Amino acid sequence: MNQSHKKDLVAEAALGYIENGCILGIGSGSTVNCFINLLDKVKPKIEACVSSSELSTQLLKEKNIRIITLAESGKIPLYIDGADEANNHKQLIKGGGGALTREKIIAQASDKFVCIIDDTKYVKQLGKFPLPIEVIKIAQSQIAINMMGLDGRPVLRENFITDNGHIILDIHNLNILEPIKLEQEINNMPGVISNGLFAMRKADILLVADENNIKVY
Ligand code: 5RP
Repeated sequence: MNQSHKKDLVAEAALGYIENGCILGIGSGSTVNCFINLLDKVKPKIEACVSSSELSTQLLKEKNIRIITLAESGKIPLYIDGADEANNHKQLIKGGGGALTREKIIAQASDKFVCIIDDTKYVKQLGKFPLPIEVIKIAQSQIAINMMGLDGRPVLRENFITDNGHIILDIHNLNILEPIKLEQEINNMPGVISNGLFAMRKADILLVADENNIKVY
């Protein structure tokens, strides 16, 4: 079974969490795109969506789903999003698609965060996937030096500007033994908008698609 079929499977499983009259937070990425594709099946249940990226917004609009802002929604009952890595504590690395900051804001505002991944992303220790950090340009070199001090190897994401107008540094080679501590440490660096560790606000439910079925953690 290929990875894209697993994404469809796990996206389908997430539909089961949508209740009548739901305000839904929507993440970004190819797994979420599969989920958005399936939303026709449950559209009458959805009152509106809060979207984490311009691309997700566009796809939702194509489905004629009402988009509202976080200011309009207030607390969001349910947030569905993918991840680049997840561990057995449901802590995540996100931001492969570059939408980490808005995703983190929406996750923080949500009562329930259901994360949908395939089993290639379920790992013992976070950090094989390079950790994305959204950075204000002027701070790029300073933050890169700080991350090298943590044995990371920073790489500027080429030809990429986030929806918020900032650059991304992808940090390779990190040995992430204490995700919460590292998330806080990076947050404290001046010029960091946000980093892709979702350890303080981790997923509440992790759905993992393997060859045959969905595991729920
Ligand atoms: C975007 C993200 C995505 O959720 C993450 O990159 C996973 O993407 P995909 O489903 O395409 O593998 O965090 O910022």
